[in-house]
Amino acid sequence: MLPPLLQSLRIPVIASPMLIASYPELVLAQCKAGIVGAFPALNARPSAQLDDWLVQIDEALAAHRMAHPGEPIGPYAVNQICHQSNGRLEADMRICLDRHVPLWITSLRAPPREIVDEVHRYGGVIIHDVTTIRHAEKALEAGVDGLILVAAGAGGHAGTLSPFALVSEVRRMHAGLLVLSGAIANGDAIAAALALGADAAYIGTRFLASHEANVVEGYKQTLVDAHAADIIYTDAFTGVHGNYLRQSIEAAGLDPRNLPRAEGAAIDFSGDGGVKQWRDIWGAGQGVGTIDAVLGAGEIVAQLEREFHAARARLLRVAAPLGHDTAGAAFRSTSLPLPGLPSPVAFLGPSGSYTEEAMRTRVALSDETLACESIDEIFAALADGRARAAIVPIENSSEGAVVRTVDRLLDTHTSITGEIVIPVSHCLLSMQPDLTSIDTVIAHPHALAQCRQWLATHLPHARLEEASSNSAAVRSSVNARGSAAIAGERTAAQYGLRIAARAIQDRPDNHTRFLVLGGAAPRPTGRDRTSLVVRLAHSVGSLARVFDAIAQCGVSVLWLEPRPLRGESWAYWFFVDVAGHRDEPPVAAALDALGAVAEEVYVLGAYPRDEGAASASLILSPETEDVPC
Ligand SMILES: Cc1cc2nc3c(=O)[nH]c(=O)nc-3n(C[C@H](O)[C@H](O)[C@H](O)COP(=O)(O)O)c2cc1C
Repeated sequence: MLPPLLQSLRIPVIASPMLIASYPELVLAQCKAGIVGAFPALNARPSAQLDDWLVQIDEALAAHRMAHPGEPIGPYAVNQICHQSNGRLEADMRICLDRHVPLWITSLRAPPREIVDEVHRYGGVIIHDVTTIRHAEKALEAGVDGLILVAAGAGGHAGTLSPFALVSEVRRMHAGLLVLSGAIANGDAIAAALALGADAAYIGTRFLASHEANVVEGYKQTLVDAHAADIIYTDAFTGVHGNYLRQSIEAAGLDPRNLPRAEGAAIDFSGDGGVKQWRDIWGAGQGVGTIDAVLGAGEIVAQLEREFHAARARLLRVAAPLGHDTAGAAFRSTSLPLPGLPSPVAFLGPSGSYTEEAMRTRVALSDETLACESIDEIFAALADGRARAAIVPIENSSEGAVVRTVDRLLDTHTSITGEIVIPVSHCLLSMQPDLTSIDTVIAHPHALAQCRQWLATHLPHARLEEASSNSAAVRSSVNARGSAAIAGERTAAQYGLRIAARAIQDRPDNHTRFLVLGGAAPRPTGRDRTSLVVRLAHSVGSLARVFDAIAQCGVSVLWLEPRPLRGESWAYWFFVDVAGHRDEPPVAAALDALGAVAEEVYVLGAYPRDEGAASASLILSPETEDVPC
């Protein structure tokens, strides 16, 4: 379980301290982005500079907190390398005790019991990093509050144990805080760490490729270019096994396949020793393969957050078999695992839109996607082959049908292969310091409608301006003084806006349903929906006959949306969703019966109903945002 100090993080992530790389600039960017920022005390040289750094960090975070009330700001951590060669250890620890450093990370040797007690006395938290079960036991005996499990593949001094083995075994002896480390470089891996039983993820290498990391540009670019296979595990450089970039070993004139034996090298944190060893030989973990760009630390956290939520939503769909509740576990679903989609997958963009969130529950980050500006463009992309599948919004629980999607389906007969339901929680995002300075609210018309009452109460004089999507609204708002936008919380971090108000939708149980277009037609699962289009003669009782035909086959109608028939006044198509799969006898019989009473009937698709997301939202609602379009 996370201690109170770590409970209000944006995502459960502790940035790991990195020799040479983690200076106050990086630490502050990490904390301001809502995760724990950390640095090794040894980076402050000489030791007296450590006190200056602590004052600088405390002051900057206090100022940021004042300027951004209510935003998640992570605490910072200082790493003490408790190795006998570290002659500064005692002086560094004294400075950190005097300054009440909120989180301590000790490594290489368990901290002395008296230090642990002193940290506890002022309310600090102390965690220790280990690579083996034996070291975990020793650290727990020393009274630390939690353990960082450094599994195989981690950057720097890494272990060899699989994270599966390490977490499972340590969990048997320690019910408290466990942080997992090793090649965690995207949100999927953070979700995986939690699924394994860890409380938080510990991430180093991903932040080396950040603008704020204090390493040379060539190092950062090599991280972007490298793959897991470029990581060499050796004790040749410090006498302790660690992971390093092959490219840097070769650049130092060494053959990575034939490195000198460790005898000559000894771990050394005296003077500049530890630092020198890392300056030319670049440490990095096996997560490098998923680093695509050097970004600001805040952007990295925003990206991790998006990926984490998408991964969590995906887990909701696969964690439990049909109708089986995994005993209140964090990941619960009544849905079957769903197949992947052919790519490129088109979605209503720009990036950060609710539709993208929905898409990420079915589409891997590595899959090719196509952000479209409108629903019409999505259908055009499917028609001309630029996209092979698509995600479109179809219905919101507060506002009803997305009629443009319904109309395009009626026109194109595009086949539907799935649905995704996502809870929607809107935030008011703005650059303005408070509500009184907001004169315009920009949002997608659905979002404006869903927040009507809140806007009338809190911003009665504001002008309401429609945008093609919520993310487009956010982009406009960034450049328009006095404006605010309505979107999900994650979009705020992505565009650097302040959250002026949370959960402003008028109905707390707000959900949006999306359709999956393209891909293989799913087989019956026992919990399906069939979508049909029915055209009726303009005669008395024709709609009643449709309902009768369906009811007599024991099939229930889930949704009905009439749309005007073009070219004929007061004549309609009916978009009808019924419960069950077209291949099951009751629905097949209903389709036959409909054929006799309607002018025209065709089936757009039969696919599993997404009940997992709706029920899961009850469990996840405090943290789960978004999604109309
Ligand atoms: C360049 C580099 C320097 C590191 N320096 C330290 C350090 O000074 N103290 C420490 O406890 N861990 C250090 N580590 C290890 C990290 O704390 C952490 O275990 C590791 O980065 C996690 O794995 P990942 O890099 O795959 O995310 C370092 C790692 C790297 C890549």
